[in-house]
Amino acid sequence: MSRIHEALKKAEQERAVNQGIPSQANLATTPFADPPVFAESPKLHTTAPASVPSSAPHSGMPGLGGPFGVDTLLARSAQMEWKPDSTTMLFMNADEGVRGTEEFRTLRSRLYHLREKMTLKKLLVTSALPKEGKSFTSSNLAQVMVRQHGRRALLIDADLRAPRLHLMLGTKSDPGLSDYLLGEQDEFSIMQRGPLENLFFIPSGTGATDPAELIGNGRLKLLLQRVEPLFDWIIIDSPPAVPVSDASVLAKACDGVLLVVRSNSTPVDLARKARQEFPEESLIGVVLNGTSEDALPYARYYYESYQKKAATTKA
Ligand SMILES: Nc1ncnc2c1ncn2[C@@H]1O[C@H](COP(=O)(O)OP(=O)(O)OP(=O)(O)O)[C@@H](O)[C@H]1O
Ligand SMILES: [Mg+2]
Repeated sequence: MSRIHEALKKAEQERAVNQGIPSQANLATTPFADPPVFAESPKLHTTAPASVPSSAPHSGMPGLGGPFGVDTLLARSAQMEWKPDSTTMLFMNADEGVRGTEEFRTLRSRLYHLREKMTLKKLLVTSALPKEGKSFTSSNLAQVMVRQHGRRALLIDADLRAPRLHLMLGTKSDPGLSDYLLGEQDEFSIMQRGPLENLFFIPSGTGATDPAELIGNGRLKLLLQRVEPLFDWIIIDSPPAVPVSDASVLAKACDGVLLVVRSNSTPVDLARKARQEFPEESLIGVVLNGTSEDALPYARYYYESYQKKAATTKA
């Protein structure tokens, strides 16, 4: 039984046992997909850190503007005054020790660990259903990434149907991704930065009438190709994977998919269905969101036993 399957089973068990969802931020990360999947993947190689010298040119796509580097990024992205929701934007909170931050640090270190084995920079965050914590997870993950000195992250709201990241960050939603996909803006005019150094944000943009059409029109891949050299991580928030196809289209432009499962909430059959929307090799892990405090030791124990198992398998 794969660990992702075990994680889904665990979420189902919790759902059966517990009643009620914790009121405070609480996120447990579960172990990632089987090492054998990675070992067999043709994609496997170490990714070099993305830090680009400020004068380094970008390879540039023909006919779409000249080379650019970090200087251009800083000069052209809009410095905004964000008013983040301090209850859920955990790293924009004056209180550093707020519940949930440690779990995001753990998630970050697992992603770095994973990155030693595969190309991993463009990360899609999705879930089976609405309201499971995709935006919460993607935004806090982007924040924890830039807490490490010199790391630069780009957070993209690719949920063109029900965009929320701009509300969580307390900023405006346009111009943004949909405007770029329509060919009305370039990559820098849709980028914002706020109070956290090195965190850049592309909001959803002006209301899109046909999100599926826009997401699939090929320009998203182009956008990612163009900005990728400037960032260490690109984290993409998405609509739920079961009701609409946007997430599976987005996944094709990414290196990996993180599936958020809400503890006591996500029906396991729908989580499995979501999982099936993505090729096995692109699903890199499951984030179990909203666990009760009692469940955390279990999650940790669970990870420890995975570590032991992995070590045994290696030996
Ligand atoms: N672990 C958590 N602790 C506290 N609040 C949380 C947690 N996870 C999510 N929330 C809150 O629950 C609500 C739903 O979360 P979020 O918006 O991240 O879900 P979503 O999966 O992105 O939903 P949608 O599919 O509608 O975009 C938000 O108000 C969010 O702040
Ligand atoms: Mg969302």
